[in-house]
Amino acid sequence: MNAKRVLITGAAGFIGSALAHHFDTHYKDIRVLALDKFRNNERFSNGNLKSFGHFKNLLGFRGEVIEADINDPRTLEVIKDFAPDLIYHEAAISDTTVSEQDELVRTNVNAFLSLLSLCEKLGAHMVYASSGATYGSAKAPQKVGEAEAPNNAYGFSKLAMDNAALSWSKRTGGVAVGLRYFNVYGKGEFFKERTASMILQFGLQILRGTEPKLFEGSDKIYRDFVYIKDIIQANLKAANATKSGVYNVGTGVARSFSDVVDILQAEFGTNLKKSFIKNPFKSSYQFHTEADIAPTILELGYAPEYTLEQGIKDYADEIRRIYAQEVLA
Ligand SMILES: NC(=O)c1ccc[n+]([C@@H]2O[C@H](COP(=O)([O-])OP(=O)(O)OC[C@H]3O[C@@H](n4cnc5c(N)ncnc54)[C@H](O)[C@@H]3O)[C@@H](O)[C@H]2O)c1
Repeated sequence: MNAKRVLITGAAGFIGSALAHHFDTHYKDIRVLALDKFRNNERFSNGNLKSFGHFKNLLGFRGEVIEADINDPRTLEVIKDFAPDLIYHEAAISDTTVSEQDELVRTNVNAFLSLLSLCEKLGAHMVYASSGATYGSAKAPQKVGEAEAPNNAYGFSKLAMDNAALSWSKRTGGVAVGLRYFNVYGKGEFFKERTASMILQFGLQILRGTEPKLFEGSDKIYRDFVYIKDIIQANLKAANATKSGVYNVGTGVARSFSDVVDILQAEFGTNLKKSFIKNPFKSSYQFHTEADIAPTILELGYAPEYTLEQGIKDYADEIRRIYAQEVLA
């Protein structure tokens, strides 16, 4: 890692905090600035919080922390003063069910454009979070550059970021690497509340002793579930990329939600009956996501290490801890 000063936006969130802890633990000579808006009581019309950042995700992190909104021009001045040579841009409205398109595009796209301009001035390397939501109902396995057709405003905003990054790179010669995460699960996601992965949500239902609630037809709803440790690996590899690009980050394998429940029950030693509910998001829902990761392997050197079974095994104690210390407390 050649970087000396790393900025992580969205650092009090799930993936940003995992990156912050990773750098704090493994790179003693790198200065890390963890930037996040954190949470307050504001909610979108879907009832979810406007930002999920939580101080508890950064407990134990010894780098610098700042509260700042990426939509605020003063934040750019703060970043300029810090002068990062590497930016991990994870801050976003990460909720796929938000319907306020203006706020979504402002936060996810406009703020990213400003950050790209800053990268040009600073000569900084940009690694940013895109999403498998850019594909919508595109045929599986989904390939970068093929049939992207987001079916919600969130996916649209991420596709707009990818297009902007590629054209910015062409224009300026700067390097921006977009990582299209598929369904990420693991430590640090509890504070995303209802938008946390179904792995955590089913896990907590099972520990509570209640029937896991799945959408009807869940044995045929497939997702490429990717463990947080593989996401960190992809981000580290992306920091060394010498050219811009957009890459899928998943396992390359799609599993059903029923599989998730079965694996969790095997892990927790339970045999609860599954219950089925109607899917309220049907029109904007993805029914089969599966990342084509061949270019990610070839060009970034990424190699996913966790199958769904291995990821859940690694995560199980943390789910138990969350249940005991956050849910029951
Ligand atoms: N978790 C997944 O499965 C997944 C999948 C695909 C893409 N992504 C993307 O990865 C990134 C990280 O996602 P996550 O799962 O950690 O979500 P998250 O919501 O936990 O993290 C996003 C962070 O950004 C912060 N934030 C929001 N608005 C901000 C603003 N205006 N200024 C500063 N900070 C702000 C939030 O407080 C939060 O801490 C996001 O860009 C998300 O869209 C996540």
